[in-house]
Amino acid sequence: MTTGDISKKRAAEAAIAEVTDGMLVGLGTGSTAAFAISGLGRRIADERLTITAAGTSLATETAARAAGIPFLAFDDLATVDLCIDGADEIDPRFRAIKGGGGAMLREKIVASAATRMICIVDASKPVETLARPLPIEVLPFARAYVMGAIRALDGEPVVRPAPSDQGNLLMDCDFGPIADPAGLARALDAVPGLLGHGLFLSEIDALYIGDETGVERRE
Ligand code: 5RP
Repeated sequence: MTTGDISKKRAAEAAIAEVTDGMLVGLGTGSTAAFAISGLGRRIADERLTITAAGTSLATETAARAAGIPFLAFDDLATVDLCIDGADEIDPRFRAIKGGGGAMLREKIVASAATRMICIVDASKPVETLARPLPIEVLPFARAYVMGAIRALDGEPVVRPAPSDQGNLLMDCDFGPIADPAGLARALDAVPGLLGHGLFLSEIDALYIGDETGVERRE
């Protein structure tokens, strides 16, 4: 296992330790969340826990079922006790960019439905200012219109070759360093046909950062 993987696993296992019997757990998407899925599967088997999971992508659902985790259909999801998910960047105020895996629309629904959300990352993810290209999900019919709206906000959109789990377009939008994440989120939320974006500004309650030596917990 690489040091990056060891760091991700440490953060994931610290978050999984917070799962208690009877919980409905929201499971994120990506390589860090994958360690949480396998860790939760092990805890369920070893401790005979009664846990149900809700997933943030089809890949997560497949992995969770393979790990023996009982799964709730996405359209039956209303509330979640604990959400555990990764991030692509996260700043000191727990504002994050997510969606590297293209799952930010479902991820935001699960995070918003959650009583508590723990973000699990390795030490490469914390930043002072969010700056990486921001993933968005776009109704295919609205492609040209939304690309124009992103350019009007001084962003440069690039369409990904593969669609989202919902069959929509995914774009990465380079805005450079994002000085006003809340203002940008408001502007994006107002664009018709733009179904979701990867700015998570108020969902995250705790941040677990794994590294080669251990886990730093920030609340
Ligand atoms: C997927 C996500 C992931 O949480 C994010 O991309 C981090 O992935 P990884 O843990 O593989 O670095 O938002 O849409």
